[in-house]
Amino acid sequence: MEHSSLVIATCEGVHQYLRWSARKRTDGSDMKALFLAGGMGTRLQPLTDNLPKPMVPILNKPLLERTIFNLKKCGISEMVISTCYHPEYIEEYFGNGSKFDLNINYIVEENPMGTGGAIKMAEKYFEESFLVFNSDILSDIDLSKMIDFHKSKKALATIAVTEVQDPSMYGVIEYDSNGYAITFKEKPKAEETTSKSINAGIYIFEPEIFDEIASDRAVSIERETFPYLLDHNLKISIYKSGSYWMDIGTIQKYRQAHWDIMSGKCKLVDCDFNSEHISFGKNVTINPSAVIVGPAYIGDNVIVGAKAEINHSVIGNNVFVGDESKIVGSVIWNDIVISPSATLVDAVVTASSFEDNEIKLLSALTIIEPLITKKLLGGKIEQLPINLKARKDDKN
Ligand code: GDD
Ligand code: MG
Repeated sequence: MEHSSLVIATCEGVHQYLRWSARKRTDGSDMKALFLAGGMGTRLQPLTDNLPKPMVPILNKPLLERTIFNLKKCGISEMVISTCYHPEYIEEYFGNGSKFDLNINYIVEENPMGTGGAIKMAEKYFEESFLVFNSDILSDIDLSKMIDFHKSKKALATIAVTEVQDPSMYGVIEYDSNGYAITFKEKPKAEETTSKSINAGIYIFEPEIFDEIASDRAVSIERETFPYLLDHNLKISIYKSGSYWMDIGTIQKYRQAHWDIMSGKCKLVDCDFNSEHISFGKNVTINPSAVIVGPAYIGDNVIVGAKAEINHSVIGNNVFVGDESKIVGSVIWNDIVISPSATLVDAVVTASSFEDNEIKLLSALTIIEPLITKKLLGGKIEQLPINLKARKDDKN
């Protein structure tokens, strides 16, 4: 054992450290991951009215799928998703993971168990070092490097940190010159810390973390477990990845994440843009008189009508952009009709596809007018979309 020479250990923390450092550590490639995906996503309402936050689309793919792709890149294929709010959408989409070449298990909480409680509930799945992710963050972090770093630091936990101007909405970390945490304060008041280093919501834990979390009750890993570990001299190392990071916590940040991907600031697998920062999906028909100004992302099965303008915007799959309509600074989800002469500025237009099962069955290119108006967010409707007709109405 690597630490057999450490015999003068007297305090409780060091004993615990010896106990868990004796357990087996993985080499990284066969590490499994846990996604904490049970939050309500309240700050992202109404995008999350009927949709768990991890399923909010980022360039037409659920945020969680983007994160999972990043994991696959470093060879991780076994994962557990811990859900609570609308678990069915997540399970329906990812299933057992086989269509993504993954093995996915689920834990569904009846009541929110908090971030620590959710980790504790996953105990049976993890016997070796494991990764944990908050599922509402977008990052192109190189996890292989983080895994190597964690192994080198011999800590019970490694937390990825990033720097932000205003840390008050995050878990704020102070650390020593060797890169180990000294304090962890969740959402502190300005006078409580001067640190700008925040918890990025990406962790690697040794399985002995389970011994430090109470079972059968809600536990916050941030408010309870991390401070407890530090009080008991259990080591938390700090990993500064320097990679892109964004908590998709508000509609403004949701939109910003799209511009960051399109401008190349955030590098995602399978997002290719041409020299004008435009990406075209499959089966896209653009009228020669239409104008597309980058950065722009056009999904699959999109028709752009005559004299339409798409500028600094994301267009989902199965979208019809009517003649002379203008879409600026906006994110349009899948399965939407933008009627002729509509003008959308700085808007997020959500799809009908998650509203209920009935609408989900509708073919593409249909939407109920009240939905599009109700769901126009973060911007102004300069001219209401007109002539929108839903298949559902046709049937009635
Ligand atoms: N399963 C489960 N059960 N998951 C949960 C629960 C729960 O009861 N509560 C929250 N989660 C999940 C959320 O879905 C999200 O993915 C993650 O845990 C974090 O919860 P948020 O509600 O988004 O927390 P936050 O954004 O206020 O703060 C967290 O993230 C910051 C970084 O974005 C904290 O971890 C901060 O310390 C951190 O800086
Ligand atoms: Mg969050």
